[in-house]
This record gives sequence, C-alpha cells and structure tokens, in this order.
Amino acid sequence: MYKIAVAGTGYVGLVAGVCFAEVGHQVTCVDIDEAKVNLMKSGVSPIYETSLEELMQKNYAAGRIDYTTDFKSAYKDADAIFIGVGTPEQPDGSANLSYIATVARQIAESVEKDCLVVVKSTVPVGTNDKVEQFIQDFLVNGVRVEVASNPEFLAQGSAVQDTLHAERIVIGTESKWAEDLLMKIYEPFHLPIVSVNRRSAEMIKYASNDFLALKISYMNDIANLCELVGADIQDVAKGMSYDERIGSKFLNAGIGYGGSCFPKDTKALEYIARQNGYELKTIKAAIDVNKEQKTMLYKKASKSLITFNLLKVAVLGLTFKPGTDDLREAASLENIPLLLEQGANIFAYDPVGAENFSKVHPEGKGGRGSITYVSNIEHALQDANVCFIFTEWGEVKAVTPENYKDLMRTPLVYDGRNLYRLEDMQNAGVEYHSIGRKS
Ligand code: UGA
Repeated sequence: MYKIAVAGTGYVGLVAGVCFAEVGHQVTCVDIDEAKVNLMKSGVSPIYETSLEELMQKNYAAGRIDYTTDFKSAYKDADAIFIGVGTPEQPDGSANLSYIATVARQIAESVEKDCLVVVKSTVPVGTNDKVEQFIQDFLVNGVRVEVASNPEFLAQGSAVQDTLHAERIVIGTESKWAEDLLMKIYEPFHLPIVSVNRRSAEMIKYASNDFLALKISYMNDIANLCELVGADIQDVAKGMSYDERIGSKFLNAGIGYGGSCFPKDTKALEYIARQNGYELKTIKAAIDVNKEQKTMLYKKASKSLITFNLLKVAVLGLTFKPGTDDLREAASLENIPLLLEQGANIFAYDPVGAENFSKVHPEGKGGRGSITYVSNIEHALQDANVCFIFTEWGEVKAVTPENYKDLMRTPLVYDGRNLYRLEDMQNAGVEYHSIGRKS
C-alpha cells in the first residue's frame, strides 16, 4: 500500500482521497481552508454526495485518511501526490491554471523523496508537460519527480460509486517508472486501465465530456425539429437507442446541459482548438444549441401567456441535475431572472438546492416580481397559474398529473425534463408543454 497525498478537497480530490483510503492506501488530503479541514476531520463532508460521509468516517476511524492545511508534512514523504484542484473557466473560455501552479510550487518546495505527481484536474492538452518543467525549476531537494495525467470521469451525485466501480481508469505517463507506480496504486480497484501518453490522457478527458455534451445538444436540436414536424423526441430516442453504436444513455432532450464540467470543457476545447489555428465546428455548434436550449421553455411560455405579471409561478427543481446541490450553469439561473423581470411571483421548490439558490436570489422582491422558497411541492403548486419543471428530482417525478389539476389555479405545466406521458396529462386535464413533443 502507498502513502498518498491529495491536493484539493473538492469533488475530484476528496472523492479520490476517500476511495484510495477505502482500498487500503494511507491518504492525507490537503486544503488551504482550515474550517473545511476541521469539518472533514469531524466526519462531515463539505459536499452533498451519496455514501461519501459514511466512507470518510469509516476510513478516518481506521486511521487511513487524514486532513490538513500543512502541505509540507503531507507532501514531503508521499509516494504519489494527486492534484484535484479546480481549473475554472476564464472569460475567453480558457482554463484558469493558477491553483495548479500554486500546488506545483508547494510540491517542488516540499518533497524529500522520489515521488509521482498525478494531475486529476481537467487541464488543457500539454499542461502536464509544463507542470513537470515548473516543478523541476523550483525543486529544492535533488529527488526524482515526474508528472502523470489521470483524468477523472466521475459524475456528481454518483461520485463514490463512479470512482470505486469506474468503467475505466485512464493514465497518461512518460516513463515506465511512472506507469508501473500508477498501475500498482490502482491495482486494488480491479478495474480496466487504459495506459497512454500524457497528452492523449489529457485529450481523452475533454474528448469524452465534449462528446457527451455534443450528444445532448444533438438530441436537443433534433427535439426542436421534432416539434416542428410533428414527431416525438422520446419515441425517436427510443428507436435510436436499440442501435448499440448509439446506445441508450445521454439521449434525453431537455433544457440543456449544465454543471461545472460540460459547459466549461466544451468552451475550453474550443479555445484550445482556436489557439492551435483550428476551428472545432462540432463543439461550437453544441455550445450554441445549449445556450438557446436553456431558455426554450421560457420562450414557449412567453409566446402563449400575455404576461407573467402578478402570476403565481411554481418552479420545481433548481439544481443542474438531481442528486446534487450544485447550481453551476443550471437552467434555473437563466430562467428565474427572466420570470422575475416579467413580474412573476415565484414559489420555488428544490429538496437540496434552495439554500444555495437563495444566496443568488434572496427570498423576497426581485425584479418586478418576487421569489419564495418552499419546502413542499404542494405549497408551490397550490393556486399557481403556471408551473415550470427544471430538475427531475424523484420528489418532482412523484407529482401526478391529477395533483397539478387539483392544486393549481390553472393547470398549465412547462416541463423541461419530459417527465410525463402526453396522454396522462391530457386525460387529467392539464395543459402540458414539454421538449420535442406535441403540445
Ligand atoms: C460530467 C460527466 O458525466 C462525467 O463523466 C465527468 O467526469 C464530469 O462531467 C466531470 O468532468 O467532472 P456531471 O457534470 O456531474 O458529469 O453531470 P452529468 O450527469 O453528466 O450531467 C450533465 C448535464 O447534462 C446535466 O445538466 C444533465 O441534466 C444534462 N443531461 C444529461 C441531459 O440534458 N440529457 C442527458 O441525457 C444526460
């Protein structure tokens, strides 16, 4: 078993650290935020993620994981240091690498024995060459330090499961020593390992995420056409999914992809292409479709309603997908300001995302309208004039067509996640508008 340090305790770093401990490695997670470190030591996860807290507590009690702000003590004798800090998007679409640079510098100044630095954060192709050079330039002790790429493919909401049972581990190395060490670190996971060079590994991450984003945008594009020609996107997707070359996953049309990854990684790859004098037309198209898709429902509703002014508008779901409290690039963030501007009195329900949303849009007056956060769906729907569905939480799916009919003043539903069968809504007497299907 190996001594592993993990830099950054966000989704990528913390989940990786906990899973390395779970398979028996000795792990120290490093973060600059002391309050967060104390929280984690007390067994509380700073992120909402199924079974993460349980594994944090179990491995902490077993002495296999610890948390610290003292990077020097964590890095000095580690066999491998995994970097999982953020690479946020900059206004031009490029990735901000300053957190990676800070960690690389700290590593260079701390390591006292040969060690492998493994970059898990999503970074532009070629970055790890630079990180290695950077560490060499600042290295204090004459030890061997190499950099490997090991992109992360976990999705929020199923992060632990995705890591412990990943479909593949991708490692990008430039020497046999680095390849062998990473292989051994991952051996206890018993998962397929794809071993390639560093630049290919970096590219696999972008190419995978961008392909999925492209797949979603393609389905959204086809959905919009379905509406115009009288086809049904769900039937179309079903018919497509039987072809194994297409597959059944990520074929759901909706209100566009959100989250911290697809929006960022599509723009980043498009930027990388531009920097290299190449125009990535497919990804540019995916970005364009996604931008328009996010307000598709609002535009539909504005066409048929004369005004939102003084209407009670129920909003079901605020997060970018279920199973997370993350709001980044969520469709709700685009639509709610538009509704408020038009004078809507919004009653918003989300099982975990309301608190975060209220930091952006505090309860009370907003624009010409107002927003109120409610903890039960009935309260949101009661006497509402119109309802928007933005996230497919289980609690939202459990609302029946009859509930809309019985609770709302006018049963008018705009559904961005295609949760209901058209005939069920029609039979219940609900006016129902969704994506890529007949209204
Ligand atoms: C995504 C990838 O799925 C992970 O493999 C990757 O590791 C991660 O980014 C990352 O780079 O860190 P995540 O952003 O957590 O994971 O969420 P997804 O489940 O992929 O969903 C992204 C967005 O696409 C959501 O807004 C979701 O509602 C939307 N989506 C997904 C659709 O609109 N239709 C679909 O069929 C599937």
